[in-house]
Amino acid sequence: MGLRKMPLPTNHVLFLAGVYVWDVEGRRYFDFLSAYSAVNQGHCHPKIVNALKSQAEKLTLTSRAFYNDVLGEYEEYITKLFNYNKILPMNTGVEGGETACKLARKWAYTVKGVPKYKAQIIFAAGNFWGRTMSAISSSTDPSSYEGFGPFMPGFQVIPYNDLPALERALQDPNVAAFMVEPIQGEAGVIVPDDGYLTGVRQLCSAHNVLFIADEVQTGLARTGKMLAVDHENVRPDIVVLGKALSGGVYPVSGVLCDDEVMLTIKPGEHGSTYGGNPLACRVAMASLEVIEEEKLADNARKMGELLRAELMKTPSDIVTDVRGGVAERHCHQRNERLCDAWKVCLRLRDNGLLAKPTHGDVIRLAPPLTIKEDEIQECSEIIHKTLLSF
Ligand SMILES: Cc1ncc(COP(=O)(O)O)c(C=O)c1O
Repeated sequence: MGLRKMPLPTNHVLFLAGVYVWDVEGRRYFDFLSAYSAVNQGHCHPKIVNALKSQAEKLTLTSRAFYNDVLGEYEEYITKLFNYNKILPMNTGVEGGETACKLARKWAYTVKGVPKYKAQIIFAAGNFWGRTMSAISSSTDPSSYEGFGPFMPGFQVIPYNDLPALERALQDPNVAAFMVEPIQGEAGVIVPDDGYLTGVRQLCSAHNVLFIADEVQTGLARTGKMLAVDHENVRPDIVVLGKALSGGVYPVSGVLCDDEVMLTIKPGEHGSTYGGNPLACRVAMASLEVIEEEKLADNARKMGELLRAELMKTPSDIVTDVRGGVAERHCHQRNERLCDAWKVCLRLRDNGLLAKPTHGDVIRLAPPLTIKEDEIQECSEIIHKTLLSF
């Protein structure tokens, strides 16, 4: 989250449902931020809320020393859905990233044969995967890392969308993994060139290095496919999921991989009090079922194309670029004299639509994926009206 919060007229959001939020004075807004893609299924989706409520009345948490009756069902469901041997359930996205890094290091020592504590993990510049010490140690954004050193050793950063740079980095035999967002979200929605993910897969395989896809933001239908890597039909060794894995009702994350990697961590070596609790498991299953049943990936693609077409109608000196993973669209405001993205967002708010600037002149448009055609039309009119008012 940026330090600057967008002031709603009353500073409160009172009531939420579907694609809308209301403030305490009853004004309704389209939510084009979707809790950073956590509410892909829409606010307070009834199926997910019901799953939460009914499980909450039964059993919420057991000591990790005991099994609970929902975890196994959830593990079977999600591993079949994504075609991986195992899932390691955690709570927040950043814990998922931490878990992926731990798995990669353990795999490097026990399978690849990297000398003890020499393992390296490569990241891409502009990455964002949270606020823990590891996450900020790989960050290139001073507002993330400045003042918090010393940093985690064994991390290296290369440019994003740069296969030759990755190939050079992989010459080091101690590299355990390359962790990358298929589309960089917080960096300002940077879409890599076609073939980048395929190239990453090939290079990682050729150098016996794990490809970790951070799909916390891009995953779960946001880009018009279940996973963003599906656009290139590549299969990472480790996939990190979070955010929409709970549809915004509860923190749920998870790390998917096959046994060769997962079984390097033995019982008692990793975990968390709440990871895999029955409430989280029920919520995650309901959230995934909603994505499947309501065909949210297809809807994201269709609505994204519609929104793109509408935004392209705006004069090109105002909107210089529309890009993103289908349902994430960006108005690139180059003419600072006319308006900066922050001012545009404030005026969008006044006109009934909440969005947030990412980096200076980029506005992220990420509505819940349940949004319908007539709502996209209405939102496009709001966006046009707002942009032309400067
Ligand atoms: C790509 C990516 N990974 C990881 C995270 C961290 O998720 P969380 O805030 O749930 O820890 C984020 C959060 O924005 C993210 O965008």
